[in-house]
Amino acid sequence: MAQLNLCSLVLVASFALLLAIHLSAAHPRKLMKSTKIPSLNEVKGYLQAYGYMERSEDHPTGTSGDSPITESSLKPAIRMYQEWNHLEVTGKLNSETIARMMTPRCGTPDIVRIPDKGVHHESKPGKFRVVAHYSFFKNMNPWSQRQLTYSFTSTIPSVPIGDLRAICTRAFQHWAAVSPFQFREAGQGEVANIMIGFYTGDHGDGYPFDGLGHTWAHAFSPRDGRLHYDGSENWSISTPTTDQTDLESVTLHEIGHTLGLAHSQDPDAVMYAYINTGVIKRQLQQDDINGIQALYPSK
Ligand SMILES: *[C@@H]1O[C@H](CO)[C@@H](O)[C@H](O)[C@H]1NC(C)=O
Ligand SMILES: [Zn+2]
Ligand SMILES: [Zn+2]
Repeated sequence: MAQLNLCSLVLVASFALLLAIHLSAAHPRKLMKSTKIPSLNEVKGYLQAYGYMERSEDHPTGTSGDSPITESSLKPAIRMYQEWNHLEVTGKLNSETIARMMTPRCGTPDIVRIPDKGVHHESKPGKFRVVAHYSFFKNMNPWSQRQLTYSFTSTIPSVPIGDLRAICTRAFQHWAAVSPFQFREAGQGEVANIMIGFYTGDHGDGYPFDGLGHTWAHAFSPRDGRLHYDGSENWSISTPTTDQTDLESVTLHEIGHTLGLAHSQDPDAVMYAYINTGVIKRQLQQDDINGIQALYPSK
C-alpha cells in the first residue's frame, strides 16, 4: 500500500534512518530504561534516532564507521541537542542533558536528516539556529482535502474502544477548532485518512516500540496517516497518576504530526517532544495554533 510512497519526509529520511538504527547495536531504549549513566554507545544511538547525528551507514567510505566512540566525537551532536532543547550549550554530557535524554518522549524524530543534504528543519538554510518554535516536516505532502476521516486499527486492546473513541473525538475537536479541518470517523469499509491504533514491539513500520517507558507513541507525516501508540505504556484514560501516561495529551500531540507539524521547541506546546508520566497537556497552545495556521491558512 503506502510503502515507499510514504515518501513524506519523516519516512524517507527518519524512518529509514530509524530502521537502520534499530538494526544496529545502539538502541536508544536502553538509554531510557537504564537508571544508570548511559554508555556513549547508547547516547550515540539516541542522538541518531532523533536526528541529531548521521548514521555512519550514510558514509560508507568515511572513517567514522568502526572507530571507538568518544565524547568529543559526539560533541557537535550533543551541542545541537542542547541547543534544540534549550539547555546550556556545552557539548558535554552533563547531568541536565542526560536527564533530558531519559525523559519519556514521542518517538518521532526532532530533526530530519536527508543523507548528503544536511539538516532539515524550520531554520535558516545551512545553519542550525533556534528560531521558530513550531516546525513542519520537510518534503511532505500536506493534505489537500479539508475533510479527513479516521479509523481504529489496534492489534491489542490496551484501552477500551469506547474510551479511545471519546478521547480521539475530543482531540480532533481541538485541532478542528483552530484549523480548516473537519474530522469524522470513517464508515465501515471506508478507507480512512488517519489510522489510529495500539501496537507493541516490532509492528511492521520499521519503528519498533520499546515496551514500558521512554517512547510512548509516534505518527507519520501527511499523507501517510498512521498514528501508533505503544501498547506497553501504562495509559490513563482519565486523570493520570504519576505512573501513567495521559492518552488524551499524547493523542493531541500525535494528531499534530498526522497533519504535518513536527516537534516544537516550546516546552509549553502540545507539539513539544516530551511528556512525563502524570502530566496533562490537553489544550493547544498559541505556538501549536500558529504552526497549524501557517501550514493550512484558513482563507
Ligand atoms: C500503572 O499505574 C497504576 C496506577 O497508578 C499503578 O498502580 C501501576 O503500578 C502502574 N503500573 C506500572 C507498570 O507502572
Ligand atoms: Zn512527536
Ligand atoms: Zn508504528
